[in-house]
Amino acid sequence: MLTHFTSLDAIDAHEFSDLLAVALYLKRRRAWGVAEHALTGQTLAMIFEKPSLRTRLSFEVAMTELGGRSIYIRGEEVGMGVREPVKDVARVLSRYVQGIMARVFAHQSITDLAAYGSVPVINGLSDECHPCQALADMLTIREHFGRLEGLTVVFVGDANNVCRSLARACVLGGARFVVACPARYAFSAKDIAAFGSAWGGQVTQVHDPRAAVAGAHVLYTDVWTSMGQEAEKAERLQAFQGYQINEALLALAQPDARIMHCLPAHRDEEITDAAVEHPRSIVFDQAENRLHAQKAVLRLLMAKDAATVIAAARR
Ligand code: CP
Ligand code: NVA
Repeated sequence: MLTHFTSLDAIDAHEFSDLLAVALYLKRRRAWGVAEHALTGQTLAMIFEKPSLRTRLSFEVAMTELGGRSIYIRGEEVGMGVREPVKDVARVLSRYVQGIMARVFAHQSITDLAAYGSVPVINGLSDECHPCQALADMLTIREHFGRLEGLTVVFVGDANNVCRSLARACVLGGARFVVACPARYAFSAKDIAAFGSAWGGQVTQVHDPRAAVAGAHVLYTDVWTSMGQEAEKAERLQAFQGYQINEALLALAQPDARIMHCLPAHRDEEITDAAVEHPRSIVFDQAENRLHAQKAVLRLLMAKDAATVIAAARR
């Protein structure tokens, strides 16, 4: 049973498959207009140390539609690790609310919230990973291809938080994952060790994007400069030249390959405007699926009927 959603490293393939099944089930029921008030009377505290559009809004809407409420808290105001230790924030919040979602710089803050709090903790992005994004992405890929097994997902750009979670999600879902990145912005030895036996087979790393995308079903990218790395922007802009998703790269992939980006996108840096607007771009399906995927996370972590909803979703 899931207790937190902090990193996909802490989730097994069965739990991941349950989350996808529940997300699809809740998405379908929302389209039918069925109310799902499983979290009536519950509150989610949402701490944001970094800006957000999708994460904040999709969690707020998800909590509202599940019959609960959410409270947005600016990271500067709480000052986790500055005004007071994260472990104290975790214990205080646990006395007020039934769940905590946090977007942080240091992943350790997420780990500490989960270790010291007594309510479920959800990672809404850390410097290390973005599990909510990867769950929504796999939901989107499955909707477009009808399966995950046997697909090849190629990430072009920085082996960053989004890339790390996507790679892990591919392993959990049975897809192949290739990252094409400059050597300086590749997976670290620690990342490679965490992939275990998947590394070198199901997960591979190359430096030539053109070779990487041959046979790809999905071309995925994210910004070259993530939040918190602004001081490195100029050197990153230079280092990532040639690692752009554009129509020429798309032409080398499978004829039905899809283009994905977690957004926000920097048009004509990591992706061209034409690629974002391409008929095979599914970036807004991804954005929508953040809502459905996170509803599944909230439902399985915070509602009392997780087993029942999983059984219903799998019928
Ligand atoms: N993709 C994503 O997490 O978007 P926000 O930064 O707008 O939340
Ligand atoms: N890698 C990006 C993702 C934004 C959703 C960042 O961390 O800024």
